[in-house]
Amino acid sequence: VRRMTVPQIRSRKGGEPIVSLTSYHAHTAALVDKYADFILVGDSLGMVMHGMESTVGVPLDLMIMHGKAVVRGTKRALVVVDMPFGTYEESPNMAFRNAATIMKDTQCQAVKLEGGARMAETIRFLVERGIPVMAHIGLTPQSVNTMGGFKVQGRDEEAWKVHIEDAKAVAEAGAFAVVVEGVVEELADRITEAVDIPTIGIGASKNCDGQILVLEDMLGLNPWTPKFVKVYGQLGPMIEEAVKSYADEVKTRAFPGPDQVYK
Ligand code: KIV
Ligand code: NA
Repeated sequence: VRRMTVPQIRSRKGGEPIVSLTSYHAHTAALVDKYADFILVGDSLGMVMHGMESTVGVPLDLMIMHGKAVVRGTKRALVVVDMPFGTYEESPNMAFRNAATIMKDTQCQAVKLEGGARMAETIRFLVERGIPVMAHIGLTPQSVNTMGGFKVQGRDEEAWKVHIEDAKAVAEAGAFAVVVEGVVEELADRITEAVDIPTIGIGASKNCDGQILVLEDMLGLNPWTPKFVKVYGQLGPMIEEAVKSYADEVKTRAFPGPDQVYK
């Protein structure tokens, strides 16, 4: 099996919708690999896997560790690894050094970074030097502290121009796709129409060129479900039921049974 490539994802603009999910670990990645065009090792892992309150504290080596696990667990999907907060904003040089480390250590195919027009110069610098970049605009969670929370963008039509310009800037700079997160539906549609690269929606619009969700959210493993998430499986209650059965059987000495011991 050949892995999906950056040009293949790029060519899906206006075509068959791009399927994508996050994954942070080898076993779930292998399941997602059967159906996803690309898998994102998102810095949301700080919150989902490590109990952090935002993604701001996620270190580079943690992204690399989870990135390696996902690349090892997959063979079909393109793997994109998030650049964490503080590893790319300062300068194109710094961004290149850290993006190259991510790609060399994990063997992923692309990196993602947050920001529109302000990151355009950096995106161009990376792409010209062999690092495919997925951009991320709209609600950018690494800016939670300046936003004062995770706030849906574009509720006020006055702000639309800025987001559309962000999309155009990252496309012009050479990003092969752009995640559009947490914006009102009509703004997402305007962004999708404004650029010639695929838009990947999350809390955006069905008319985006693709969709992404955090795997644990759509599996019902998150104790709190945001409005934009559809829960496709109730793994939380299933896990709790299994753990409860195990605890009961240990206490009653029903486990291990005859089949689980060596004679
Ligand atoms: O970190 C993440 O999971 C993401 C997606 C939600 C797009 O950036
Ligand atoms: Na992210």
